[in-house]
Amino acid sequence: MHSVLFVCLGNICRSPTAEAVFRDRAARSGMLERLSIDSAGTGDWHVGKAPDARAREAAARRGYDLSALRARQVTPGDFERFGIILAMDEANLRELELLRPAGFDGLLDRFLSFHPDTPVREVPDPYYGGDQGFEQVLDLIEGASEGLLEHLRGRS
Ligand code: 4NP
Repeated sequence: MHSVLFVCLGNICRSPTAEAVFRDRAARSGMLERLSIDSAGTGDWHVGKAPDARAREAAARRGYDLSALRARQVTPGDFERFGIILAMDEANLRELELLRPAGFDGLLDRFLSFHPDTPVREVPDPYYGGDQGFEQVLDLIEGASEGLLEHLRGRS
């Protein structure tokens, strides 16, 4: 059993998208029952909210349903519940490193470190940009999800 937590700033754009895309890929490859998958934000501004409408609509056009997800903030307990914690950008990773308990022996890394085929290191924050930003978020997340599944395949 692997437990994976995706983390961004608000938990309304990038990390819920990653949660839904990775869950979809895991289901298609028959690995879903061996995985626990969730997402959270380092900030608390949007706690309890559904994902941003632009993220929901961009994801829906590719067949992913984000509508049931609700934002929550990362907690210290997440380092006990999740063995793999993946940050969307460097700022998220720095925040997580500050929260990381000394005893955490899981993996804390950037999500895009699993992307097999991009020089891009961060999933860019699409919140203040246009629709193209949400397409780029999906492109990067789809690639990194494939890479993460490949990494986990055979390890459970
Ligand atoms: P996310 O996007 O971190 O991908 O969910 C953002 C959502 C909200 C804000 C920033 C980024 N905000 O500043 O409220």
